[in-house]
Amino acid sequence: MKKTILSGMRPTGKLHLGHLMGALANWTKLQKDYRCFFMIADWHALMSEYENAQDIKANILDNLLDWLACGIDPEQATIFIQSEVPEHLELYFILSLITPLGLLERCPTYKEQLRQVTNRDLKTYAFLGYPVLQAADILLYKAQAVPVGEDQLPHLELTRQIVRKFNTLFKTNCFPEPQALLTPSPRLLGLDNRKMSKSYNNYIGLAEDPESIAKKIQSMITDPKRIRLNDAGDPDKCNVFNYYALFFPQLEKEVGNRCRQAQIGCTACKQELAAKIIVLLAPIQEKRRFWEQDLNAVLEILVQGRIRATSVAQETIREVKSLLKI
Ligand code: TRP
Ligand code: SF4
Repeated sequence: MKKTILSGMRPTGKLHLGHLMGALANWTKLQKDYRCFFMIADWHALMSEYENAQDIKANILDNLLDWLACGIDPEQATIFIQSEVPEHLELYFILSLITPLGLLERCPTYKEQLRQVTNRDLKTYAFLGYPVLQAADILLYKAQAVPVGEDQLPHLELTRQIVRKFNTLFKTNCFPEPQALLTPSPRLLGLDNRKMSKSYNNYIGLAEDPESIAKKIQSMITDPKRIRLNDAGDPDKCNVFNYYALFFPQLEKEVGNRCRQAQIGCTACKQELAAKIIVLLAPIQEKRRFWEQDLNAVLEILVQGRIRATSVAQETIREVKSLLKI
């Protein structure tokens, strides 16, 4: 029996190189060896974006096209939209019955979001329960493993605490304690050296056209001490070099040497990087266009995904209700 995996992504904006490196490349590898559920977490998105629900709606299809373009395979994995499987809310409520308030209030991601996000009101009842809905996502499918980035570790720990409490209270081992499958991705900085974020518009979208990619990469800041062409550069002070190291590790040494020995200028160095990223994204973009031509097939994938997810979810809900005697 294959182990079960569940992961999700919030449809809050366009997908970019960070998502490819941080999640999608990993998911496409995992789908061969695990029974995978990949979910568009639109309810989680709504918890912070409830004033812009129309954007979430548009992003769902857009993100899904990128998933398929990156090689998420509906034959191997179950792809679905969280809000199309209402059992997520049902389990969220049931888990909330036993989740200690203090655990949620002390959750480091919660405290950080409240501090950082100032343009939306997150002091809501629903947002406090964000990790409980995430626990419900995972437990509905009894996932043993959850591929996530480091930022999500507190939510997995909370999920395990909920599992232990549930299993003890109701004398069962209905739920396994899910383990994180940490995605080995070093932080990819945005084009302006700030954190990559849609609000800074400092990323390269997976579906972005070549001219725009070239222009954005040409705008990247390089080693600030390198003013003239024959000044030796320090690649370790240059984000362009980070991109080479991350996406084209086979070129890392060569580019580093040429930079240190002033054998290449920054403009040319960035042109070469842009050309390589355009080539890297070309097959993904082609595959995206293929799916765009056949939106009915994409909608059918969602129907099949919803049916498969629902049948597992309903089975779990039946089991949980019988344990609680409700
Ligand atoms: N909270 C996750 C994030 O922001 C998204 C998510 C929702 C998720 N439900 C999940 C991730 C379940 C893993 C498992 O990235
Ligand atoms: Fe960065 Fe390349 Fe310029 Fe060196 S040559 S500073 S690696 S852009």
